[in-house]
Amino acid sequence: MTDSSLALASRSPVSGRWAVRADLLDFVDDPGFAAPAEAPGVRWRPDHVLLVDGERIAAIQPASAPLPEGWTDVPVVDRRGQLLMPGFIDTHVHSPQLDVIASYGTELLDWLNTYTFPAEKRYADPEVSRVGAERFLGALWANGTTSAVVFPTVHKVSADALFKVASARRMRLIAGKVLMDRHAPDGLRDDVEQAEKDCVDLITQWHGRDRLAFAVTVRFAPTSTPEQLAMAGRLFQAHPGTYMQTHVSENRDEIRWVEELFPTARSYLDVYDREGLIGARSILAHGVWLNAEDRAVLREYGAQIAHSPSSNLFLGSGLFDWMKAEHEGVNVSLASDVGGGTSLSMLRNMGDAYKVQAMQGVRLSAWKALYTVTLGAARHLGLSDEIGRLEPGSVADLTLWCWAKGQVAEHRDQLARDLHERVFSWMTLGDERNLLATYVAGNCVYQADEPTH
Ligand code: GUN
Ligand code: ZN
Repeated sequence: MTDSSLALASRSPVSGRWAVRADLLDFVDDPGFAAPAEAPGVRWRPDHVLLVDGERIAAIQPASAPLPEGWTDVPVVDRRGQLLMPGFIDTHVHSPQLDVIASYGTELLDWLNTYTFPAEKRYADPEVSRVGAERFLGALWANGTTSAVVFPTVHKVSADALFKVASARRMRLIAGKVLMDRHAPDGLRDDVEQAEKDCVDLITQWHGRDRLAFAVTVRFAPTSTPEQLAMAGRLFQAHPGTYMQTHVSENRDEIRWVEELFPTARSYLDVYDREGLIGARSILAHGVWLNAEDRAVLREYGAQIAHSPSSNLFLGSGLFDWMKAEHEGVNVSLASDVGGGTSLSMLRNMGDAYKVQAMQGVRLSAWKALYTVTLGAARHLGLSDEIGRLEPGSVADLTLWCWAKGQVAEHRDQLARDLHERVFSWMTLGDERNLLATYVAGNCVYQADEPTH
């Protein structure tokens, strides 16, 4: 362990009592695709004080009310007039791909071979993995993301490194080493036996420890042999509480390739289903080209699609029909899919999600988008008692935002006529530069300028 990771590990998870005063926005239910003015589930508490005791939210009250006994002397982060929200949840993102974000000129399969696979090879080196994990998780916090479902690389050490940094900061992280035993270059393939051993080691060491969970991480059907997919299914079934993450039906050339490789499967999704890889804890990125039967299968299991609008636009993959998926009972969360996606900022990803829906004649309200990256994702992950809401008892994973940064946004903010208009223009024009501070389990992990706590 290096000096910096020792320093992280020795931080006390419990920082005592403190409070923050701001305008609170969160959700108590799914606003759906209702018009903003009629949307249910929105909870707006202007000028409130949120009290934090150790890792958790202790109470929330109007700023005008006297503080309870025992709280009168606690430090108060005074951010009146600014926005406090639960930390955002990114349900699909690749930690090593900060090295290839914004790479020019390709669709999925060429992009993997040209940029991504060569970059991921470097993570065999424990030092590259360690520095990369610190850089990546620091970047998530600097974008307002406090929980994530992450693909590292095929190397066990890359998963270990992520878990280590997340554990030291008491972060909610779901990850696992990537499984890929074919159609990948030298240095980036495992084999069934070693992969299983590595996964079992990682489960033993990290799963259920602190706020960490293991995900059986099948890269995608083309890079695993049928034998490896069968092993992955057995692992997922044998270890209750683990998640499963993969990609499905993202790109049309990819789908044609899967059809060639698995001619007896009913569909791309079926390649996973018949190996026992689909369940309520399965997170499948993209699903742009699923058919009605696939959606029915996802609904039956309660599995979720991690819709990745920035990535789908950047890699030219297609337009995900979010409303149809939800009308047919599929759980949908939102994800950056960096480096296919071009920003870790969930504000930017929500802005892209709006545009993807607009291309299909559907309007995505700020309420629906923000619900999805907070309570919606928490519910689909089975974690809504812990994250996603500003609620006594929830873990204090918090983000503080300023409404507008720069002339254009400030001007637009001043002209907003109602709350949705204000929040929507913030979501659409804002990004990580609007972020003032991020707290994970009650500790400040990012602050924009002067110390806030
Ligand atoms: N399919 C298989 N691997 C990847 C990846 O790294 N990114 C995306 N967007 N799709 C994939
Ligand atoms: Zn991905």
